[in-house]
Amino acid sequence: MLRFLTAGESHGPALTAIIEGFPAGVPLDKQVIDEQLKRRQSSFGRGGRMKIEQDEAEVLSGVRKGLTLGSPITLVVRNRDWENWHDVMSADAGEINPEREAEKRVTRPRPGHADLAGALKYRHIDLRNVLERASARETAARVAVGTVARTLLEHLGCMIFSHVVQIGVAACGAADADRKEYAEIAELARSSPVGCADREKAGEMIREIERAQEAGDTLGGVFEVVCLGLPPGLGSHVHWDRRLDTRLAAALMSIPSVKGVEIGLGFRGAGLAGSKFHDPVCYEKGRGFYRPTNHAGGIEGGMTNGEPLVMRAAVKPVPTLRNPLPSVDLFTKEEAGAAVERSDVCVVPAAAVVAEAVTAWVLADAVLEKFGNDTLDEIRLRWGEYRAYLEKV
Ligand SMILES: Cc1cc2nc3c(=O)[nH]c(=O)nc-3n(C[C@H](O)[C@H](O)[C@H](O)COP(=O)(O)O)c2cc1C
Repeated sequence: MLRFLTAGESHGPALTAIIEGFPAGVPLDKQVIDEQLKRRQSSFGRGGRMKIEQDEAEVLSGVRKGLTLGSPITLVVRNRDWENWHDVMSADAGEINPEREAEKRVTRPRPGHADLAGALKYRHIDLRNVLERASARETAARVAVGTVARTLLEHLGCMIFSHVVQIGVAACGAADADRKEYAEIAELARSSPVGCADREKAGEMIREIERAQEAGDTLGGVFEVVCLGLPPGLGSHVHWDRRLDTRLAAALMSIPSVKGVEIGLGFRGAGLAGSKFHDPVCYEKGRGFYRPTNHAGGIEGGMTNGEPLVMRAAVKPVPTLRNPLPSVDLFTKEEAGAAVERSDVCVVPAAAVVAEAVTAWVLADAVLEKFGNDTLDEIRLRWGEYRAYLEKV
C-alpha cells in the first residue's frame, strides 16, 4: 500500500524522501516531524556531528494547508554540515579540490562498518563513497517518513513509544507491564537522557557511556518498542510475506547496528514450557476477547491479537572507535589502525527513536490494507465499525 524511498549522503546537501500511497485528509504538522527529528539527535552519548545539525523537515509536496492530499509527499532534511563539505562532496566535477579530497579520503576500513564490503562490491578506491550513504544519518529521513505514518495511527487512537532497557552491562530487570504502566513508562523514558524509564538504571547507563567515552570505546544495548491501541487482525497468517511479524522484524533489522529482534518474550521465552509461555484466552462482555498476560507481544500467527505490540532489539556497539581496532590499508595492504571519523559513543536511545518510526510505517501500511487507503474519514469509519463488531462478537 505504502511506499517510500530515501536519498542523500551524510555530508551531501540534504536527505530527501518521497512517500507514495498515503491517504488524503490526514492533518500533518511539520512541527510534529521536527520534534521526532530532535529526539533522534539529542540523547546522551551522541557525538559532535549532532551539535552541528539541528534537523528540521521541509515538506515540498503532498500537503496543502496542513492536510495530506493523497499525492506523493516529499520531505527534505538539509545537512548543515554540507557547507563544510561541498568541495569534497559536490556532484559537480568542476568543483574538485585535490588537496581537500586527499585529506578526506578514507582508506583504512573500520571493522563493523560497511566500509570494506562496500568498497569491494562497488570497486571504490575511497571508502568515503561507501560510508557517506552507509552512515545512519539516513535514519533522519526515515524518522521523518515514519512520523507521517505515526500521525495516521495517532488519529486512530494508537500510541507508539520506546524505552531503553540496557546499555553496556547496565540493564533493567524483566518487566511485564500492564497498559497503565506502559503510559507511565513512555513518559519517564521520554524525559530521560538515555531513554530509560528507570531513573536509577538511567544513571548507571550514563556512567557506562562516560566510561566508554573516556576509554575511546563504544557501547551497544537493548531497547523496547511498544504500540498500544491496535485492533486484532492486522497482517495475515495466509502467506509468509503478509505476516506482520515478518514485516516488523525486517523494519527493525533495517536500522543500522540492530543485530537481534524479539517479539514478546522472544529469546527470553525459548526455555519456557508451553503452559508457562502462552497467554490464556479470556472473554468479558463489552470488552470482547483479551489475554491476562502478553508473552506473545501482541502477535499470533502473523497478526495482531489486540494486546499491546511489544518488541525488543539488540544494538551492537558503534563501530567507529577513537582507539581504533587493527585494520589494513586498502592501497598499501599494511596493517594500520582503522579510520577514525567523528562519531557517536552509544546510539541505543537514538536507534529506539528510529525504531518507533519504522514500526509506525509498517503498522500504518497494515492499517491501510485492512481499512482502505483513500481518505482518513473512510478509514476512521471502517475502523469504528470493526471495533464495534469486536465488542459484540
Ligand atoms: C542513530 C544511529 C547513529 C549511528 N552513529 C554512528 C556513528 O556515529 N559512528 C559509527 O561508526 N556508527 C554509527 N552507527 C552505526 C552504523 O551506522 C552501523 O553500524 C553501520 O552502518 C554498519 O551497519 P550494521 O551495524 O547494521 O552492520 C549509528 C547507528 C544509528 C542507528
